[in-house]
Amino acid sequence: MSLDSVLQLQTLNKMMRGQFEIAPARSVMILGIAGGNGLEHLPAGKFQKVYGVDVNSAYLKEVRCRYPHLDGVLECLCLDLTKEAGVLPHANLLLADLLVEYIGCACFQQVVKKVSPRFVSCIIQLNTGREWVSASPYLHVFDRLNEVHHDMDEASLQEAVQAVGYRHVRTLRRPLPNGKQLVQQDFEKTP
Ligand SMILES: C[S@@+](CC[C@H](N)C(=O)[O-])C[C@H]1O[C@@H](n2cnc3c(N)ncnc32)[C@H](O)[C@@H]1O
Repeated sequence: MSLDSVLQLQTLNKMMRGQFEIAPARSVMILGIAGGNGLEHLPAGKFQKVYGVDVNSAYLKEVRCRYPHLDGVLECLCLDLTKEAGVLPHANLLLADLLVEYIGCACFQQVVKKVSPRFVSCIIQLNTGREWVSASPYLHVFDRLNEVHHDMDEASLQEAVQAVGYRHVRTLRRPLPNGKQLVQQDFEKTP
């Protein structure tokens, strides 16, 4: 695995630890959960319900195998958010890390409206001219990202989430050594 790829995954992992602490939520939904990166940081006993959503059933199988201690708390939902957002249950905290690039802002707005969380936290990766996905034979979660991603910029994502009834709370930036940047934006539902 290239050093760039390791650092990309490690940075995302550390940021997820912070996302789980964002608020006193009792339920969390992780969109595009892939292989379950970061779930080891779920604070013990904090969440009564953890939803993991992904279109790829093999990833969800991997998540269940990696975290058997989450049995009864973790519910994996295999669905395509671009077609089946209408079946999503409610959760109090919604995480979308490197996911909006796949589904686009308009679809993400539908997801947010359906889940109706109090808190939303998204991480996007900003391009700075170099190729978008770090090369690695192991990082299968980034497979075909170049082919499917919607061009993403933080202002558009912020506007999209604000337009469905949320206020922007903060933005965090984590530089990656290859010139890329992971940008986390947190939102809270307006009363
Ligand atoms: C780059 S990965 C996300 C990385 C992950 N959040 C992490 O922390 O490692 C994107 C994930 O979104 C999933 N995905 C892509 N399009 C989707 C869709 N339309 N509906 C549901 N999941 C989707 C992919 O299968 C993949 O697991």
